[in-house]
Amino acid sequence: MTTPLLFQPFKLGNITLKNRAVVAPMCQYSARHGFANDWHLVHLGRFALGGFSLVIAEATGVTAEGRISYADLGLWSDEQIAPLKRITELLHANGSHAGIQLAHAGRKASTPLPWRGKFDETPEERISLAFEEWTPVAPSALPHSPASKMPTALDAQGMAAIRDAFAEAAHRALRAGFDLVELHSAHGYLLNQFLSPVANQRTDQYGGRLENRMRFPLEVAAALREAWPKDKPLIARVSIIDWIDGGTTVEDSIVYAKKLKALGYDLIHCTSGGFDGAKVQIGPLYQVPFAAAIRKGADIPTAAVGLINTPQQAEAILANGEADLIALARQALDDPNWPVHAQRHLMPDGNYSDWPKQSGYAVRAKDKVLNAK
Ligand SMILES: Cc1cc2nc3c(=O)[nH]c(=O)nc-3n(C[C@H](O)[C@H](O)[C@H](O)COP(=O)(O)O)c2cc1C
Repeated sequence: MTTPLLFQPFKLGNITLKNRAVVAPMCQYSARHGFANDWHLVHLGRFALGGFSLVIAEATGVTAEGRISYADLGLWSDEQIAPLKRITELLHANGSHAGIQLAHAGRKASTPLPWRGKFDETPEERISLAFEEWTPVAPSALPHSPASKMPTALDAQGMAAIRDAFAEAAHRALRAGFDLVELHSAHGYLLNQFLSPVANQRTDQYGGRLENRMRFPLEVAAALREAWPKDKPLIARVSIIDWIDGGTTVEDSIVYAKKLKALGYDLIHCTSGGFDGAKVQIGPLYQVPFAAAIRKGADIPTAAVGLINTPQQAEAILANGEADLIALARQALDDPNWPVHAQRHLMPDGNYSDWPKQSGYAVRAKDKVLNAK
């Protein structure tokens, strides 16, 4: 039997992923002062044990003000490198490559933790959780939603500082042992705010027509490519559409993806939305057509993400040529062993080759007795 596409290797820059199953970045809102801790080690490490070829760490603030919340990871200081290095070493020791998403939240910074929904931390919790709140920055002085903080519009100096912070964070990511960096240019965060007319009302060379709106994201993208070793893979996460009338279109995103490709980006991780008022038509596989459109329109590899649940769905996406990688977020939380389970589903005789040696032989023996696949 030929190996299912999901379990065929994929070359990205100087790394070869052992399969196509990737963990999408997921904020854990569990850091203090931007430092990774045991939670992040276990959260990310379990995906390596489960057989994912690439595990991408959550949106990591390139500046303290660029965090979505006070509990996000950060890489604005050298001290933040060591706990991340522990994580990359664990991933590498268990057959996965390590990625990190570098991010700036722009006007969506300084938000409450999602399971709280508001700043209701007690004085004691404010100390134990290292609570902070601050005034965000953005392309224009427009809040994300009626409930959001009013941001300060960025000036040239502020933009240059953010661009440089992305480059410095990339140097630190390298020292932390990451194999891949993902530029966060999606979900209504800072770079997406520049790209979209929904949030960008600037009248200088960074606002107005698409070429101007792309200017700052592409300056950041170029600085990051410059800072990250040429042979190492660099990818970008892009909201292909805003799901808002007058917002970013698939055609806009094809133009942007072509520019990223010209800068030396290796893959576009195709997502959507992120602005208040978006009319998202959500359902199984709802973003796969975006991955297909970018792959065809910009002639660049893509990752598909969004309500992809079953190995059969993943295999069909690859077989249809809609994407090169399959990224899972919530399904990976639900089943961190998704790839090793998928191996058994897609390979008739069962296959345990991606299990860690410490558990694969034992699960195989159990299945043999029960005559399960
Ligand atoms: C808990 C959680 C945290 C997330 N954090 C991030 C993040 O840090 N960066 C990002 O680009 N997307 C983030 N997302 C979005 C996911 O990466 C993914 O695109 C989305 O959940 C759709 O995929 P799914 O249907 O497989 O969950 C997050 C999603 C979840 C559920």
